[in-house]
Amino acid sequence: MSGKGIEEAKATGKKTDSFRGLITVSPEDETMTIKTVSTIPFTDQKPGTSGLRKKVSIFKQPNYLENFIQSIFNCLGELNGKTLVFGGDGRYHNKEALQVILKMAAANGLSKALVGQGGILSTPATSCIIRKYHLQGGIILSASHNPGGPEGDFGVKFNVENGGPAPEKITTAFYERSLSIENYKIVEAPDIDLDTLGLSRLGDMDVEIIDPVSDYVELMEILFDFNKLERLFSSGEFSMVYDGMHAVTGPYAKAILIDRLGAPEGTVIHGKPLPDFGGLHPDPNLKYARELVEIMDSEVAPDFGAASDGDGDRNMILGKRFFVTPSDSLAILASKADEIPGYSAGLKGVARSMPTSRAVDKVARHLGIDCYETPTGWKFFGNLLDAGRATLCGEESFGTGSDHIREKDGLWAVLFWLSILAEERSSVEEIVRNHWRKFGRHFYSRHDYEAVDTQKAHELIDHLRQQLPDLRGRHFGNLCVRNADDFEYSDPVDGSVSHHQGIRIFFEDDARIVYRLSGTGTQGATLRVYLEKFEADPEKQGQETQEALAELIKTANEIARIRFFTGRDNPSVIT
Ligand code: G1P
Ligand code: ZN
Repeated sequence: MSGKGIEEAKATGKKTDSFRGLITVSPEDETMTIKTVSTIPFTDQKPGTSGLRKKVSIFKQPNYLENFIQSIFNCLGELNGKTLVFGGDGRYHNKEALQVILKMAAANGLSKALVGQGGILSTPATSCIIRKYHLQGGIILSASHNPGGPEGDFGVKFNVENGGPAPEKITTAFYERSLSIENYKIVEAPDIDLDTLGLSRLGDMDVEIIDPVSDYVELMEILFDFNKLERLFSSGEFSMVYDGMHAVTGPYAKAILIDRLGAPEGTVIHGKPLPDFGGLHPDPNLKYARELVEIMDSEVAPDFGAASDGDGDRNMILGKRFFVTPSDSLAILASKADEIPGYSAGLKGVARSMPTSRAVDKVARHLGIDCYETPTGWKFFGNLLDAGRATLCGEESFGTGSDHIREKDGLWAVLFWLSILAEERSSVEEIVRNHWRKFGRHFYSRHDYEAVDTQKAHELIDHLRQQLPDLRGRHFGNLCVRNADDFEYSDPVDGSVSHHQGIRIFFEDDARIVYRLSGTGTQGATLRVYLEKFEADPEKQGQETQEALAELIKTANEIARIRFFTGRDNPSVIT
């Protein structure tokens, strides 16, 4: 496909002119009863970093889901003539919630609902479908990488017509509506059969159950050279393991890696989506993807290991006994994008969230392209991608993506890495070490203190904020503070300003500590401490990460008085 063809395909997700006709079923004589149910507001329906995320038990309270969904529909205005897509990551309560939402959509006058078969749709596939079929948006039921099951978490995300997460002004509007809601509408009708592909009707709304995988696979085939990847697998010189974590990506990974690229059965582990993720915590990191990590650490490790999270937007990349930090991964993808058909025309720019290491900045400088620094959360990349200012973007939290959709994309990152491995025929470790030699190494780690007392966590941040004016020039061991601030982002496209996006402390020699509170947790507060230190000298790049960062870790505790405020001696998770 020509460069122009690829750009068009990225914009529309279409390889050919084939287009899922938005077929409508002619109205039947069914009479539909729309019920208007009185309700009173819940005061806690403020979406966080990524949608409204709460414990299942909270979502199961009478009217809780209904109130939030009605608030969304109220904000969307006229739904007649519109098509939305619905799906989720298959977690506990997914199907039940979907039935309620579809009945409410019908009652609110939506013309058509596309629904992933079995209620399944990964976050990236939803974004792809919204863009490909020019839909007005979609609802994804997911709490991403948070545990599932009756005791676990549930969530609702709304994506807008560019395929990306609703921006802050829209989620704020949902929240404000939720505070004054008085009733919601729902049709009285039997449940929809979510498992059978095809068209049906719910009241006056058309419902089309769609294959959740095929549109996404088609888009991947545009971006990557599948023939080359097939040859990699058939060469007999390469093996990999992909961990679906019993979450949404199993069916996608099987369709692409095994059915399409010919990888052997057994390449995908934990491939069946389960409501409780098989008791696993579907967060692809060194702690929670334990089985994969053990395989990759073993003597008989395959060449490449990867995993994705609950809803399929995160990725973890491993080599034989080697972990690639997401920040390095982003930088490496940027430096090798010209090897990939979908990006051979060059990158327009790159973007990273502020806490993400500055490894990609070095690549951007080398390529002579812009590098944007945004607040945490994928929604901040949307404008840059839409405006054609950035092609690749990423976050330290195992999220990487490009302008092919408006979400981060786990399997896309895996295919990108596979393409690099197919091109270079060297190991993951060699590729990373060569990168460090050329651009320098950014030692990087994130320390999370989970479920700490919310008030204390805020006091810790306030205490840091108060110190900001006095930190410059202060010494902590060998470290000297060069600058410190509270990150503020001014969107270069729409001019909107986001305040208080994290406390940054910069030291001489390009070291940095960042502190912020999570916006996705559901229990107390989570303090995140991001540590980064640059090392240009290849002789010193071999150190173990936590050792290399030891002084910075000590300093981070000292400045923020972490033990005092949280009562914790150590972080709960280190990535
Ligand atoms: C976390 C990550 C952030 C990511 C978000 C959604 O948010 O840190 O990078 O975009 O999950 O996957 P946080 O809990 O830090 O607000
Ligand atoms: Zn996710």
